[in-house]
Amino acid sequence: MSGGVREAGAGPGSTVAKVNPQTVIREVRVARRPQGMVQAEDFVLAEAAPLPPLGDGQVQVALRSVGMNAGMADRMRERPNSGHPAMALGHVPRSDAVLEVVESRSDEFAPGDLAVRSWSPWREADVVDAGELRRIPAERADLPLENHLTVLGHVGFTAWVGMVHVGQVRETDTVYVSGAAGGVGSCAVQFAAARGARVIGSAGSPEKVALLKELGADAAIDHHDGPAVELLRAAAPDGIDLFFDNVGGDQLEAALDTLRLRGRAVLCGAVSQYGREGAGPRNYLRMIYQELTLRGFTVTEHEDLRPAFESEAAQLVRGGRLHSVHTVLNGFDRVPEAFCTLLTGGSRGRMIVAA
Ligand SMILES: NC(=O)c1ccc[n+]([C@@H]2O[C@H](COP(=O)([O-])OP(=O)(O)OC[C@H]3O[C@@H](n4cnc5c(N)ncnc54)[C@H](OP(=O)(O)O)[C@@H]3O)[C@@H](O)[C@H]2O)c1
Repeated sequence: MSGGVREAGAGPGSTVAKVNPQTVIREVRVARRPQGMVQAEDFVLAEAAPLPPLGDGQVQVALRSVGMNAGMADRMRERPNSGHPAMALGHVPRSDAVLEVVESRSDEFAPGDLAVRSWSPWREADVVDAGELRRIPAERADLPLENHLTVLGHVGFTAWVGMVHVGQVRETDTVYVSGAAGGVGSCAVQFAAARGARVIGSAGSPEKVALLKELGADAAIDHHDGPAVELLRAAAPDGIDLFFDNVGGDQLEAALDTLRLRGRAVLCGAVSQYGREGAGPRNYLRMIYQELTLRGFTVTEHEDLRPAFESEAAQLVRGGRLHSVHTVLNGFDRVPEAFCTLLTGGSRGRMIVAA
């Protein structure tokens, strides 16, 4: 299958020169708190401070491509119950990125090397401690760059931790994935299918429903087609064993109504609730009657699992059983647009901006 949607123009493959001290480096900052849905105007493109001189063990990097994360929509707002402060106004958001080393004072990296940084500021160039970078290994250098932000990167790792480690997916399971055609969801569907489970996915358009079937889902639902619980019951008349939730709200309630005795739910995200009070599920008593287990997770707490994930994911990629699904917009100035498009369902798979 072909997983990528890419615009014409410069992108991965173009070369990057060392940043001239006179060159303007741009960054994206949070400009205001979102009111309702996040808008591109909630961000501002600004000139970054000049880069500091390189210290020992540091490298200067140029941004090649950066992934967008839906969860950031939540962190832009005041969230009294989250345990984390909201992003300050003027803050430069961070997400995972592929970077090219352009100058090095580290024995680990030389100019031209490509590396992934988990939490890279939305900035065209930066000075970074070499220890923050994960080199793209030589044996994976032939793979398209997007793979390092999708199936082998942050969203793939999130899906694997949730589906395999937390959810303990089994061959005999019927699995339901909400937000299944997104960055995390498209990987979660494929990990469950690769383990032999029966997979049902939900997404927001007929094109995404078709994509889910290409990815190995046995059934797929367009969540616009009716009440979530009716659509899920029709797709899984005998119920589900495992729910991987990216969406929350009515998707979570539908899954609670459909999970079989001792079913499990993995709470990965709740994109439908970001910017709202995030009310709990109306039917939570089903947890008692059906002895259900709901377990949330935060991928950053599971860094120790990365080698096991990379080993399995790389094998699946090489075996043609795990495909990168991504939408690429070209141009660093399009980061705000890319982020808002992701939230409103305008992307397939991971939304990536090529600088
Ligand atoms: N727990 C963790 O450590 C962790 C780490 C990373 C991400 N996450 C979570 O994983 C989830 C997916 O993140 P992502 O970055 O890969 O985003 P994504 O799934 O690529 O993008 C979000 C998608 O959600 C769907 N959506 C938006 N509003 C919806 C609604 N009201 N009802 C149903 N679907 C809706 C849209 O697709 P459609 O067209 O299908 O509607 C949209 O494209 C998020 O909840 C995020 O917070 C959790």
